[in-house]
Amino acid sequence: MSIQIPRGTQDILPGEVEKWQFIEQKAKDICKRYLYKEIRTPVFEHTELFQRSVGDTTDIVQKEMYTFEDRGSRSLTLRPEGTAAVVRSYAENKMYGQTVQPVKLYYLGPMFRYERPQAGRYRQFVQFGVEAIGSDDPAIDAEVISLAMELYRELGLKKLRLVLNSLGDSASRKAHRDALIAHFKPRIGEFCEDCRHRLETNPLRILDCKRDREHELMSSAPSILDYLNDESRDYFDKVKKYLEDMEIEYVVDPTLVRGLDYYNHTAFEIMSDAEGFGAITTLCGGGRYNGLVQDVGGPDQPGIGFALSIERLISALEAEGVLPPHEESIDCYIIALGEKAMDYAVPLLQEIRREGLSAEKDYMGRKMKAQFKAAERMNAKHALIIGEDELEKGKAAVKDLQTGDQEIVPLENIVDFLIRGK
Ligand code: HAM
Repeated sequence: MSIQIPRGTQDILPGEVEKWQFIEQKAKDICKRYLYKEIRTPVFEHTELFQRSVGDTTDIVQKEMYTFEDRGSRSLTLRPEGTAAVVRSYAENKMYGQTVQPVKLYYLGPMFRYERPQAGRYRQFVQFGVEAIGSDDPAIDAEVISLAMELYRELGLKKLRLVLNSLGDSASRKAHRDALIAHFKPRIGEFCEDCRHRLETNPLRILDCKRDREHELMSSAPSILDYLNDESRDYFDKVKKYLEDMEIEYVVDPTLVRGLDYYNHTAFEIMSDAEGFGAITTLCGGGRYNGLVQDVGGPDQPGIGFALSIERLISALEAEGVLPPHEESIDCYIIALGEKAMDYAVPLLQEIRREGLSAEKDYMGRKMKAQFKAAERMNAKHALIIGEDELEKGKAAVKDLQTGDQEIVPLENIVDFLIRGK
């Protein structure tokens, strides 16, 4: 039996990969303008990093991690997300001591989660994310959100919904947590096993339960917004004001809790409202994580960031029909006839390419007509025709495949001629 690709992963083939390169380049360009610098961390980390940061009781850590023991009996995990590793690296490399603050980083790379694959949900997916660490100015929250919105806007997406919430500081969260326990406890027997467990470990997660979504206690559950203390409310108000100043529309949804434990204050998701986009509509998620740097062993430095997957971004672009068509062409195709001309074409091809032009020759022993066909298929601008006859005369025919014009050019001038006609 032939071996197939693992479930939940995909090959990105030529023809498709250009979309990825286009988007990745846009992401890098926008980071350059917003002054976020690239960071690359390992694809695997000590398992403990994710247990401590993403949270022991989250679905990601409990059910979705690719964890393995290496030959030295260490427990390692393929990263399910990027924030934990960036924060670990920030602390380990003492970036809090750098002169430029806050430290603004971005990353682009594969993440791994053992989830049930479906449209928009993969086991290996590529996240583009940014993290701004070292500032608790609400303006940086607004900047991070605006960067994501700007990337989508520049790529042409229109049907977006920014959903915003505040999870408050630790005092607000504690008050809300107590209220949630009091609310659910008397009737927790009516909830699924996971929720019964969550009541003790992480009652906020009950609000995120897919199975008990329709239970009447869900809609009447205490809202975090009613438990924000003055400081947390002021913070949230400022973030909203800055977004309004930048004319970024949002809706506040107090049930937005996010699936990772490290968040406080600002939490947000960007959803696609495009028709036919599929069941999973979240394109991007992020929020503030004051306390996380300390949790992984660094000093008490605040942070905020987001991540989005390229897979879902491409689906959204396709749903809105705004991906620019990819057209490829090459500068020159050498049509060589006869053995001598074939041999001559080898170093000539190298010379043309060295000059920065894209060029190809035949490697399949095709006849002249088929070589012309190949040149057309590759959308070549010029065909360079060399036969034994031409070689003897020291000349070749250069045909402009768009206009059909043909010129006889001395062999020593061919490269110059092609550069001029580029
Ligand atoms: P997250 O919400 O778990 O947050 O994931 C962020 C984004 O990654 C999602 O909105 C979605 O676009 C994409 N994503 C997640 N799982 C999958 C999957 N199985 N297949 C395809 N795409 C997926 C985080 O990862 C946080 N680290 C975000 C963050 C950065 N918060 C602060 N800084």
